[in-house]
Amino acid sequence: MRKIFIQTFGCQMNERDSERVLALALACGYREASSPEEADLIVVNTCTVRRKPEHKAYSLLGRFGRLKEKRPWLRIAVVGCLAQQEGERLLERFPQVDLVIGPDRIEEFPEALLKSEEGQRFCLVGFKEDPSQRVLLPPHLGVKAYVNIMQGCDNYCAYCIVPYVRGPEKSRPSEEILQEVRLLAERGVKEVTLLGQNVNSYGKKTPGELSFVQLLRKISEIPGIERIRFTTSHPKDLSEELIGAFKDIPQLCEHIHLPFQAGSDRVLKRMKRGYSREEYLRKIERLREVVPGIAITADVMVGFPGETEEDFQETLGLIEKVRFDNLFSFKYSTRKGTLASRWPDDVPPPEKQRRLEELQALQRKITLEKNKSLQGKLMEVLVEGFGERPGQLRGRTRCNRVVNFVGPRDLMGRIVWVRITEGLQNSLRGELPWEAKEAVCA
Ligand code: 5AD
Ligand code: SF4
Repeated sequence: MRKIFIQTFGCQMNERDSERVLALALACGYREASSPEEADLIVVNTCTVRRKPEHKAYSLLGRFGRLKEKRPWLRIAVVGCLAQQEGERLLERFPQVDLVIGPDRIEEFPEALLKSEEGQRFCLVGFKEDPSQRVLLPPHLGVKAYVNIMQGCDNYCAYCIVPYVRGPEKSRPSEEILQEVRLLAERGVKEVTLLGQNVNSYGKKTPGELSFVQLLRKISEIPGIERIRFTTSHPKDLSEELIGAFKDIPQLCEHIHLPFQAGSDRVLKRMKRGYSREEYLRKIERLREVVPGIAITADVMVGFPGETEEDFQETLGLIEKVRFDNLFSFKYSTRKGTLASRWPDDVPPPEKQRRLEELQALQRKITLEKNKSLQGKLMEVLVEGFGERPGQLRGRTRCNRVVNFVGPRDLMGRIVWVRITEGLQNSLRGELPWEAKEAVCA
């Protein structure tokens, strides 16, 4: 029997796309390989949002090309954003590549695969107008699942390649989303994370479609769904209605990922983000007024073209002011075809590195302080797997922190109360409270 190995780079959307590719390949009779060396089909699911993951994908193609010299029947497929960006060029440059499939063409994977088995090389890229996506459940279903609700982006932030490689924004029909969530819930899924580049604008382009908050309400009515998360939100589209939803939809977890990208108005303007520093801070204030204790995470970058030391200090100032629970921070890298690629990439690499390190050191300190402040608290944890030490279980709080604690295996997949004993840099340690019997809440 033929075996498939998938290597995934990038975001949660890519992780979900890899699940869809796997589901389709299993339906074509493939089994999963545990390493690329034993695979008959290798799929590289690529990301081009920054230079680093793009380079990693290229170096992997070189490595898999050498595997193909020993296993000439091996098929290599490139899917995801690099496939869309480079298209036919990948087939020209890399003779080892058999299939190139863009993110919006994944459902055509089985036909392309069969043709490639007959020796044809294939490139399927471009965007469909139809926003539908087949309901393809993840082959390894646990207690949590990702659900695509949107594709693409219309924002064209100056640095960002996403609108070019993921296409225009389109919302998946709510009926399809609800059907998928119902099926997941029937199979024991308790937590869903709704995925889109900008979930706050869900449905806005489709007359008669539900709004994002209406969609959240419908999902919360599905029996078995205990927790709902979503990512990513754009600060300019974060509405009062959505902020309010945190209060009146009990399943909506108290965590929001709200990328701010930069703390200086001058930079935000040139990035074309559509909000000012003050407007961002005001949204944070409102979130905290309505949902005290809400966890807030964000993306930020340093070294955007023209970013001065003063601009950078404003970014640090914003971080100190907001005190994020966690931050994902990046050095700017030029992406071909974006507006910012027309401007000189003028912050020298060592300076970008210095800014990144300074920013990360500040955030590490804040993250640790915030994690420590949870010591002694009782927190609701969804048990997802085994912990780092023998006998330990691992789960996540509603605020998305990882907790390791000692407990019986039969708590797996359940929601329990855990008392936090220690706040660490990247996780929490906890213990089941003495009243553990009553602590199992779902
Ligand atoms: N350079 C560096 N970081 C980038 N991001 C997006 N484009 C770039 C780029 N050209 C970051 C943003 C975004 C996250 C997914 O990646 O912070 O929110
Ligand atoms: Fe990129 Fe901006 Fe769209 Fe996010 S909102 S995907 S940063 S263009």
